[in-house]
Amino acid sequence: MSDLVPAWWRDAVIYQIYPRSFADANGDGIGDLPGIRSRLPYLRDLGVDAVWLSPFYLSPQADAGYDVADYRTVDPLFGSVEDARGLVADAHDLGLRMIVDLVPNHSSDQHVWFQQALAEGPGSPLRARYHFRDGRGPQGELPPNDWPSIFGGPAWTRVADGQWYLHLFAPEQPDFNWEHPAVADEFRTILRFWLDLGVDGFRIDVAHGLVKESGLPDIGHDTSWHLLDVGESPCFDRDGVHDIYRSWRAILDEYPGERIAVAEAWAPTLSRVAAYVRPDELHQAFNFSYLGTAWEAGAQRAMIDASLAAMSAVGAPTTWTLSNHDVVRHTNRLMQAHEGEVAGKRPAAVDEAAGLRRARAASLLLLALPGSAYLYQGEELGLPEVVDLPPEVRQDPAFHRATGQDGYRDGCRVPIPWSGTQAPYGFGPEGGPSWLPQPDSWAGLSVAAQDGVPGSTLTLYRDALALRRKVFAGDDLTWLDSPAGVLAFERGGDFRCTVNMSGAPVTLPVPGSQLIASGPITVEDGVAVIPADTTVWWSL
Ligand code: NOJ
Repeated sequence: MSDLVPAWWRDAVIYQIYPRSFADANGDGIGDLPGIRSRLPYLRDLGVDAVWLSPFYLSPQADAGYDVADYRTVDPLFGSVEDARGLVADAHDLGLRMIVDLVPNHSSDQHVWFQQALAEGPGSPLRARYHFRDGRGPQGELPPNDWPSIFGGPAWTRVADGQWYLHLFAPEQPDFNWEHPAVADEFRTILRFWLDLGVDGFRIDVAHGLVKESGLPDIGHDTSWHLLDVGESPCFDRDGVHDIYRSWRAILDEYPGERIAVAEAWAPTLSRVAAYVRPDELHQAFNFSYLGTAWEAGAQRAMIDASLAAMSAVGAPTTWTLSNHDVVRHTNRLMQAHEGEVAGKRPAAVDEAAGLRRARAASLLLLALPGSAYLYQGEELGLPEVVDLPPEVRQDPAFHRATGQDGYRDGCRVPIPWSGTQAPYGFGPEGGPSWLPQPDSWAGLSVAAQDGVPGSTLTLYRDALALRRKVFAGDDLTWLDSPAGVLAFERGGDFRCTVNMSGAPVTLPVPGSQLIASGPITVEDGVAVIPADTTVWWSL
C-alpha cells in the first residue's frame, strides 16, 4: 500500500465484508477475523483497493453487531483486538486498505452507559446520554411521541420505572443523545482508538440520524417507513449532524495516509446527501438513489447525471453501489425493482439466469462510472438472493418485528461458498455448520468452481477490475446518442461503454476493439450484435 497515491479514495473499489458470513476459521458456523485474514490474498487478487468490515465489536448480536456493547472490544465470536490489529497489518502488507464500521446513532442496551442509565432511574444525569422521557396519557402509558421504529412498532420502549427510551431501530438499540457532550467526547476517543490501531477509515452507520429535532416533536402523519428510506422527518438529516462530521474530519486529517469516512446517510435529495461530503466533512456518501434506480436507460442516465452533478457541486466523488447487507442482492432486485423504490424489498424468486445476466451488465456499467465503487461480498460470484429461508432460521430483527415494512435482510447474508461440493462450501471446516443454510446450488458458484473459468462471474469481475486500473483516468463522462433503451458514454477520449437495456438485441457499428463484455456478443463485418442486458467496454 502506498501513502503516495493522492486521494486514493476518490476512485477506489471498496469491498464490503459482512464478517459473520465471509470465512469461519474456528468452525462455530459464524465467520470471524482470522477467517477474513486467511482470505485477504483472494481480495488482493480480485483487484479491490480497500475493504469495509461491518461491525465486529462486542455485541449481543440483536442486530448482527449493529448493537454495540463496547466499541473498543472485539466480540469473542469474531476474535480479539489483536486479531483486528493483525488483520489491518496483513491487509496493508497486501496493498489493501481497511475501513471499519462505526455505529454512533445507538448502542446496545447492554452497553455500560445504558445499564447505568437504567439503574440510576428517572432524572439521573446518566439517563441524559440517551433519550428518556415520561409517557403521554394519564398514567404515562403512551409513548412520548408518534415516532415509529424502522424495524416496526413504536420507537419507544417503557422501562420498569415507567419512563420510556427512544430506539429508532430495535429496542435493544437505544439512541444516544448527541446533545450530551459526553457522547461526542466518547466517539472522538473511539475514532482515535481505531485510527491508532491503523484503520484507513470508517463507514458511519445511520450518519443522518444522530441529531434529533429538539423537543422530539410528533411527525404527525402516516409513518410507515421502509427500513432505511425515510425521507424528511424530525429524526433524520437534521442540520446539526454536520457539526459532528466537521469535528471528525479534523481528527481524520491529523492522521497520515488520508483516512476517510463514508456516510450511510439517507436524505431526501441528492443535494442533502452532498452536504455530508462538503470539503470539511466526510469523504464519501453511499449513493442509495442510484441503488434504487430501475434498470431502464432513461432512469439510469438521469440518475447518473444527477449523482455526478450533486457531488461535483461540493467537490466530492460520487459513489456507486448495487448491493449491501441491507438490500436484496442485485441479481434478484434489478428484475423486480420499480423506479423510485429502494428496490425489491420483498424478495421474489426470479429466473436466475436472467437475473445474473442483468446483474453482470449492471456491475460492468457501475465499474465504468467515474468515482468510487462499493461491492458487496459474493456479488463477484453472482450469488442470488436466497428467497426461501424458513422463518425459524432467520435472524434479522426486522423480520421478527415486521409490520408495515419489509426489509427482510437474511437472504443477502447467507455465508459465501469458497470450495467443495457440500455446505458449508469452504466457509468453515468441512461438515461444519453455517449460521444460515446455503442453497444446494451454490457448489457451482463457489470461488473454486469459478476460479480461472472463462466467462464466470468471478473472472468478469477480476478482468474488469484489472482493466479499470489501467483504462480510466480523470472523471469525465460524455453521453453519446444511441438507440432507445441503449446507454453509451465515453471517457478520456479512448474508452466507450455500451449498455443494452432495451430488452432485445441491438445491432450497432463496432466503435473500436472490445475490452470486455458482460455476456457474449457477436462482432462481424464492423457490426456488433449486443444481446439484451449486456454491457460492453470498448477501447477506441
Ligand atoms: C444500517 C445498517 O446497515 C443496518 O444493517 C442496521 O440494521 C441499521 N443501520 C441499524 O444500525
